[in-house]
Amino acid sequence: SRSMSKTANFTGLIENELQQVSPGIRKLLSSRFEELSKCSRYYTVAQGKQMRPSLVLLMSKATSLCSGIDQSLVGSSFLEDDAPEYISTGQVLPSQLRLAQITEMIHTASLLHDDVIDHASVRRGHPSSNVAFGNRRSVLTGNFILGRASTAMARLRNPRVTELFATVVADLVRGEFLQLKNTVNTNTLEAQAFHFDYYIEKTYLKTASLISKSCQSAAILGQCSPTVIQAASDFGRYVGTAFQLMDDVLDYTSKDETLGKAANADLNLGLATAPVLFAWKQYPELGAMVINRFNCPSDVKKARELVESTDGIQSTVKWAKDYIKKAHEVIQCIPDSPARQALHAVAEKVVARNY
Ligand code: FPP
Ligand code: MG
Ligand code: MG
Repeated sequence: SRSMSKTANFTGLIENELQQVSPGIRKLLSSRFEELSKCSRYYTVAQGKQMRPSLVLLMSKATSLCSGIDQSLVGSSFLEDDAPEYISTGQVLPSQLRLAQITEMIHTASLLHDDVIDHASVRRGHPSSNVAFGNRRSVLTGNFILGRASTAMARLRNPRVTELFATVVADLVRGEFLQLKNTVNTNTLEAQAFHFDYYIEKTYLKTASLISKSCQSAAILGQCSPTVIQAASDFGRYVGTAFQLMDDVLDYTSKDETLGKAANADLNLGLATAPVLFAWKQYPELGAMVINRFNCPSDVKKARELVESTDGIQSTVKWAKDYIKKAHEVIQCIPDSPARQALHAVAEKVVARNY
């Protein structure tokens, strides 16, 4: 399995819950229109790393150690002698397991649309949905999954979490929209700085927002304190940003077979990600190519060579590692536990992965 839980070796902690993520999603996607069930379950067959549900489940478990007093125990003999300030249940609530499923569904819906936008041919080592079922079915299926995820979300009856997830969906679209075009077309130092700002905002919107708000929501459903809810949000934002930075590195450094999707795709899509933005600092001639979105026939090859002759890749990895360092720091306010240690391990895994 390519699941992150196995590789990071915290299987025992959330194994039971993680095993329920995919079957639960498949159930939420049932339809009497056979073809719709098939299309919408397609990306649940060859599973991804399950990084997002793993983070939600581990955050749920780690923060259950600092949520409010368990009301069912108030007044019981258990609390009379030596009432602890906090009761640790160490359990993942049913609502938090549902949250993990909803998070993965929204991610899956976004991949169906993304593969249409990016003209992908492979995802998770199999033909991508747009190839298997065509663009029209992929777009419709993405919306169907989003609809079912919204129903499941409504049933949690938590307006605050519902609002966060509605914002996430808009953020995903805003991120993709930003990525469609550049907004400055000058080759100056200011333009370089602008591209970095634009890149990091786009990265937040397309990747970190979902991870941040799903971790935050786990803490909200666990009735944690505002401090812990904020820590969960920040942790997700830092890990999510590092995750996308590494995704953009792997596009340069990895192979199709390892990634289970096309490597070397970003320049061909016209995208100036962090490695090329760092290289631009050293080679001003990259500016014209960034502005033209590597449109001239030789641009992609030339830009790649320039990136490889600089430390653009290493600088991006370093940047990702800086975010992971902040992620480690920000969850120090959560009591130490095996679940928190597993969160640290997943964060490390994000910058150590090769797929
Ligand atoms: C993968 O990025 C894509 C995303 C992180 C977000 C895609 C979002 C949309 C298409 C907006 C619509 C959203 C919904 C919920 C309907 P990538 O192309 O860099 O990664 P890849 O290499 O895995 O394809
Ligand atoms: Mg893509
Ligand atoms: Mg994309």
